[in-house]
Amino acid sequence: MPKPPGKSKLTTRAINLYYGNYHALGDITVEIPECAVTAVIGPSGCGKSSFLRLFNRMNDLIPTARVEGEAFIDGAPVYGKDSDAVSLRKRVGMVFQKPNVFPMSIYENIVIGPRHHGVKNRGELDAVVERCLAQVALWDELKDVGIRNKSGLELSSGQRQRLCIARALAVDPEVILMDESCSALDPESTMKIEELMADLACRYTIIIVTHNMEQALRVSDMSAFFMIDGDKVGRLVEYAPTIDMFYAPKDKRTEDYITGRFG
Ligand SMILES: Nc1ncnc2c1ncn2[C@@H]1O[C@H](COP(=O)(O)OP(=O)(O)OP(=O)(O)O)[C@@H](O)[C@H]1O
Ligand SMILES: [Mg+2]
Repeated sequence: MPKPPGKSKLTTRAINLYYGNYHALGDITVEIPECAVTAVIGPSGCGKSSFLRLFNRMNDLIPTARVEGEAFIDGAPVYGKDSDAVSLRKRVGMVFQKPNVFPMSIYENIVIGPRHHGVKNRGELDAVVERCLAQVALWDELKDVGIRNKSGLELSSGQRQRLCIARALAVDPEVILMDESCSALDPESTMKIEELMADLACRYTIIIVTHNMEQALRVSDMSAFFMIDGDKVGRLVEYAPTIDMFYAPKDKRTEDYITGRFG
């Protein structure tokens, strides 16, 4: 697989992931560039979410899951005795398909992470809230609605998803994993989140999973195409700069998938 331009933030070397006897991901070796958006595409069930969860060790929470091989963040092992999953998850945030807003105020939804990590000072927490809401373009929309009293559940679904991104940003992550984070949103909210991804890519390493090929083409720098191979194992078929993947795919299976999804 090609080495992307710039510095690699995340790397895997011959990773295999099993759920019990089921071999979900086979021999994945990849380098994910820093300060860029990488799109993960492929048919349902090919292992995209599983791949994302390798990087924050969320698969650890699935009792049947077993990982073989190596993954690195800034060259340091993600798995292994010296790596701590809790501090790793502070560095590698995740946003899901369904905005999982907590039933508490907008403010509390954001400070929950920093508080958990020991920030107590009110001024400091206020500053985090303002910074994060501004980063997701919600500050101007919400600053006058009473963010300490208004519940996060009272927001529209597009606002909720941006609130979830703000919550992920509140602990100062380095990597943001977004698993189909726009798929439940209307076009306007999707557009806002896509703009946000482009802004965030200046500072963060972003990996998105999407079934929307136009979105992958619009927002990502690199694309990774996964599919289940003849041996029933999820494989990384092609990994390339997005432009190359979409306009000059090297593998016939990539081409078939992309043209089928566009058509
Ligand atoms: N917790 C689990 N326990 C057992 N098998 C699982 C688990 N999670 C995923 N799998 C299996 O691993 C394979 C890959 O699943 P994964 O969710 O990573 O696919 P995906 O590409 O994200 O699919 P989708 O596009 O539908 O979200 C599937 O066959 C799935 O059934
Ligand atoms: Mg998935």
